[in-house]
Amino acid sequence: MKAQDPVDRRRTFAIISHPDAGKTTLTEKLLLFGGAIQLAGEVRAKANRRQTRSDWMGIERERGISVVTSVMTFEYGDCVYNLLDTPGHEDFSEDTYRTLTAVDSAIMVIDAAKGIEARTRKLFEVCRLRDIPILTFINKLDREIRDPFDLLDEIEKTLALDVAPITWPLGHGRGFAGTFDLQRNIVRRLDRDSEPLHVEGPDDPLIAGLLSPADLAETRDQIALAREALKPFDRKSFLEGHLTPVFFGSALRNFGVRDLIDALADFAPPPHGLEAQSRHVDAHEAKMSGFVFKIQANMDPNHRDRIAFMRVCSGKLKRGMKAKLVRTGKMIALNAPQFFFAQDRQLAEEAYPGDVVGIPNHGTLRIGDTLTEGEDLVFRGVPSFAPEILRRVKIGDAMKAKKLREALGQMAEEGVVQLFLPNDGSGAMVGVVGALQLDVLAERLEAEYGLSVSFETSRFELCRWITAATASDLDQFIRAHASSMAVDLDNAPVFMATSAWDLRYEQDRAPGIVFSDIKDYQ
Ligand code: G4P
Repeated sequence: MKAQDPVDRRRTFAIISHPDAGKTTLTEKLLLFGGAIQLAGEVRAKANRRQTRSDWMGIERERGISVVTSVMTFEYGDCVYNLLDTPGHEDFSEDTYRTLTAVDSAIMVIDAAKGIEARTRKLFEVCRLRDIPILTFINKLDREIRDPFDLLDEIEKTLALDVAPITWPLGHGRGFAGTFDLQRNIVRRLDRDSEPLHVEGPDDPLIAGLLSPADLAETRDQIALAREALKPFDRKSFLEGHLTPVFFGSALRNFGVRDLIDALADFAPPPHGLEAQSRHVDAHEAKMSGFVFKIQANMDPNHRDRIAFMRVCSGKLKRGMKAKLVRTGKMIALNAPQFFFAQDRQLAEEAYPGDVVGIPNHGTLRIGDTLTEGEDLVFRGVPSFAPEILRRVKIGDAMKAKKLREALGQMAEEGVVQLFLPNDGSGAMVGVVGALQLDVLAERLEAEYGLSVSFETSRFELCRWITAATASDLDQFIRAHASSMAVDLDNAPVFMATSAWDLRYEQDRAPGIVFSDIKDYQ
């Protein structure tokens, strides 16, 4: 690694896990390594969650969940780490998916007593779609755990992912004493992990001194078997997303975290290039480019300012520079880009590929937007997923219909919900992945726009974006199905179906039309 190269020394990653596996605890410990000690405590947020910025949102406070996605930057050793946090609640999975478009690698945290859980698997699948390399952290070794071979086997089978354990646990539960590095013969002891011991091998008396006789015999057998039966780490395979290096530890005891952070530096990739519609953009190119993967509104309800989170893809972003918003062709001045440090933020004087900057704006920027120094690049791949719930928005006061339409447009640009306007002029529909998003929408419309709304079911249950080989084919379909058609925020045609059966029926009848449940932002 060219440690001094600002691009090569960056690691932009996310943590994926099932709730309660230990993501928050691990995040805290990672920040501790970065010296953000005073901030680390702020990450924790359960009973009195997030008494800070996002406090404006009652829902979040009441339900003890984290609705927002934030980014944390810290330095350790030769590297700058950007950890992109993802909301824990599954109703916010869209946000999580978009965040995963902005990382170069991910840490998968698994509870050693539970193994692979539903949400881990789902998030893993999103990573796989993008071939994001995954490091695995098997957590909570200080508790009773499942057999390590069982856990590894489960990862291999359920995720179709090769496993290469880098460390092996020495005991578990009350007897958990540390880990043994299978390749390098290094022992790390619980509570003294900064002082690694070099040993001869698993038979070294030093290891015997750490374990009970029963644990020792079992551990030696396991290590022999692991070395014989399991694949050694292969970086190419890891970078291609086929193999995961596995680490055992306890986030709570701050154990194994050092191995993980070292592995991010040594194994995980620096910022990769990105595919734009017209060409591949290399991270080392001189000109700045970036894309917006998240919009967060506002931290201050009195000012309707929003922060657009942009990942820098190439070049160097300098504060004060002008950048072209490719969607509109307009130049915008980046006067106050910001870096985030846990709950704190500061002006970003310059930012490099892999960095995420927050750009304050009043609605100019949308999810999926590309900013460049002039070139008309459009990065692909901040997707929109067909909603699982469709509702018509009702407002008591008909005089406020126009204001409602505007507010819904803004919420849709932020990615809070998707907005569909039926071609027959009937009331706006909103689409969400999880019901909690509707509560968030209602609360924000009330708090920020003074609009009191309710949601009604309509005869439509699902919807799909439609395209066709020729404009006339598309037109014909739209005309023939006028009462089932709508447009989304970008005016793209959307077919609404009353049931899965109805959708299949129409699909069979219109072979020239492509019905799609994912739409890349343009
Ligand atoms: P999450 O963000 O993935 O939802 O998980 P979080 O870190 O909040 O951890 C969930 C629970 O698991 C917490 O306990 C936390 O203390 C515990 N935990 C995390 N890592 C370890 C570990 O390595 N060993 C053990 N024994 N426990 C661990 P809680 O009781 O739900 O919350 P709290 O009262 O401790 O805050």
